[in-house]
Amino acid sequence: MIGRKTYEKVLTFGAWPYGEKRVVVLSSRPVDLVAAGVRTVEQMAGPPTEIVSQLAASGAHHLYIDGGITIQGFLRAGLIQRLIITRVPVLIGDGVPLFGTLPRDIRLLHVATRHYQSGLVQSEYHVSA
Ligand SMILES: NC(=O)c1ccc[n+]([C@@H]2O[C@H](COP(=O)([O-])OP(=O)(O)OC[C@H]3O[C@@H](n4cnc5c(N)ncnc54)[C@H](OP(=O)(O)O)[C@@H]3O)[C@@H](O)[C@H]2O)c1
Repeated sequence: MIGRKTYEKVLTFGAWPYGEKRVVVLSSRPVDLVAAGVRTVEQMAGPPTEIVSQLAASGAHHLYIDGGITIQGFLRAGLIQRLIITRVPVLIGDGVPLFGTLPRDIRLLHVATRHYQSGLVQSEYHVSA
């Protein structure tokens, strides 16, 4: 499941990176799904709890969610159990905060951190209940 802005970004990559995997694009406005070039892309909108219920009813119980604003919405609703955060070795001068403002602190339990030759550092966390 990806937000509309992430979808638009992915389209600029040229080749569709998700193959035939089912992908849900979240947007409250019409989205050009044909541009993905595969039939496995669909659109949904609404409160995160309703989206998760609808997807569960269709057999999707394990969801991967991407897009900053999109992740924030699901975090606020308490629907994220695992976070994988990858840091690139750049101090950005300006930009958009990754998680924005949350109604309360969300405690994380560190599971593992991997690092790569390129300088990428990837940490995995469980979200405390
Ligand atoms: N570096 C990375 O790993 C990474 C990963 C993801 C994204 N990005 C980039 O970060 C930038 C900022 O992304 P973002 O946080 O603004 O994007 P985003 O989360 O991908 O997209 C936000 C949009 O998703 C839609 N949306 C989210 N939740 C919804 C819901 N429950 N119901 C209906 N629509 C919903 C809304 O679209 P509408 O406005 O159309 O209603 C919202 O404006 C993008 O340029 C993206 O490419 C980077």
